[in-house]
Amino acid sequence: MTDSTTPAATSRRSFLKTTGSVSALAGVALPPVHAAENNTLQVALVGCGGRGTGAAINALSVTNGPIKLVAMADVVPAKLNSSYDKLKSQFASQVDVPPERRFLGFDAFRQAMDATKPGDIVILGTPPAFRWVQFSYAIEKGLHTFMEKPVTVDGPTTKRMFQLADLCSQKNLKAGVGLMVRHCRARQELLQRIRDGQIGEIVAMRAYRMGQGGGTAGPRPADVSELTYQIRSFHAFLWASGGVFSDYYIHQIDECSWMKGAWPVEAHAVGGRHYRGNSLDQNFDTYSVQYTFPDGSKLFFDGRNMKGCRDEFASYAHGSKGSAVISTLSHAPGMTRIYKGQKMPTVTSRKDLPLPEDPNLVWAFPQPEKSPYQWEWDDLTDAIRQDKPYNEVRRGAEASLVASMGRMAAHTGQIVTFDQMLNCPHEFAPNVDKLTMDGPAPLTLGPDGKYPVPEPGIKTDREY
Ligand SMILES: NC(=O)c1ccc[n+]([C@@H]2O[C@H](COP(=O)([O-])OP(=O)(O)OC[C@H]3O[C@@H](n4cnc5c(N)ncnc54)[C@H](O)[C@@H]3O)[C@@H](O)[C@H]2O)c1
Repeated sequence: MTDSTTPAATSRRSFLKTTGSVSALAGVALPPVHAAENNTLQVALVGCGGRGTGAAINALSVTNGPIKLVAMADVVPAKLNSSYDKLKSQFASQVDVPPERRFLGFDAFRQAMDATKPGDIVILGTPPAFRWVQFSYAIEKGLHTFMEKPVTVDGPTTKRMFQLADLCSQKNLKAGVGLMVRHCRARQELLQRIRDGQIGEIVAMRAYRMGQGGGTAGPRPADVSELTYQIRSFHAFLWASGGVFSDYYIHQIDECSWMKGAWPVEAHAVGGRHYRGNSLDQNFDTYSVQYTFPDGSKLFFDGRNMKGCRDEFASYAHGSKGSAVISTLSHAPGMTRIYKGQKMPTVTSRKDLPLPEDPNLVWAFPQPEKSPYQWEWDDLTDAIRQDKPYNEVRRGAEASLVASMGRMAAHTGQIVTFDQMLNCPHEFAPNVDKLTMDGPAPLTLGPDGKYPVPEPGIKTDREY
């Protein structure tokens, strides 16, 4: 545990001060940092939950050179232990993490990174609130980084991430962001076909992430600290995750913006809490956002977290000459397709597959496809080994900001522009780098026993 007076905290503070003036480093030739002499990439895993463990599996599955896991960190012992057991059982010879390199607590990320050497890789699979803190230390240690999305949840941390992205490049470190669809070969081919004009100009886009719930939080068990409770239920709390909006919806907002070739400049949205019951979370059940691109065309995004309703998970582009399917049912496989005109079948269940013959179908990416979760690791480690430029952090922060922009528009009932979101001074967890296990949490219960929730039209310049 670190308080703000320890050397680690002090050096981190001075480091962040440096990141505030990254131009000081511009033009300084720094030696390339790449795979260790013996060619084995060492990996530290920080945040050993579902996705962190999944990312470690992808890391250990690359075939472009030797790679091994050497350190692990988490704040919950059971999470670390089950992740270790799973990884060891699948990759016995590549998992070299003795008990003395398994670290627990808020400082564990530093200890895990200290157990590696410059040119190794750290996986950041923690909730997004911790991203800038842990990425700062990774850069300081000369590590390449794979970080999960979202990478920010508000304006101030997005600005910080932009600075860290620049610093990362200046130190010739590689950084991947878990918007894995960008590495999907089916989506890449679709993008090329869209750029080649096969559907004409994109005039409208639609995306849906409608499922059977998520992001709720029951009462805190008496034996769990307030902070641990909020971190465990991180989808419930905006400071920790940006809520289900940022955490779930970012993928489709990102993939549509990628296909369009631009970030939306503003968002206009509605949403509400209908059936949250006794849940103490800060999310809405429904969100509907109209994003506007610089050319005036729109992306209509619908999110719903509600049982008993029709589910849909899909992204579509409508062009002046035809239409395209970007995602069907899930992130993987993409099943990308191009159709003549604007008619395409709606697929809401695996039972709808295989798709029937369709006279309007112009092109479909051949199945089966390799998982984009594996491609993103193949690409990152290839860039490290070949010393190719590779830094996805700025665009990951932009995607995170665009997600926050739609969320804030729904939560406040106002139109929110890209610049307003970036310059919104509300930092949800300003002291996230100073948290201690037994210290206070960034969000406190009100006298009514509830956490603050967004109130559109009443709270208009901040979300809670
Ligand atoms: N790219 C994708 O498709 C995808 C899919 C799932 C999750 N994710 C992202 O991965 C991240 C983690 O999600 P998850 O589903 O794995 O959650 P999870 O709860 O399963 O895992 C998070 C882990 O981080 C640990 N942790 C929390 N704070 C920590 C800290 N300060 N230091 C060290 N460890 C800490 C938790 O104890 C937990 O083990 C989120 O950002 C999420 O959006 C991405």
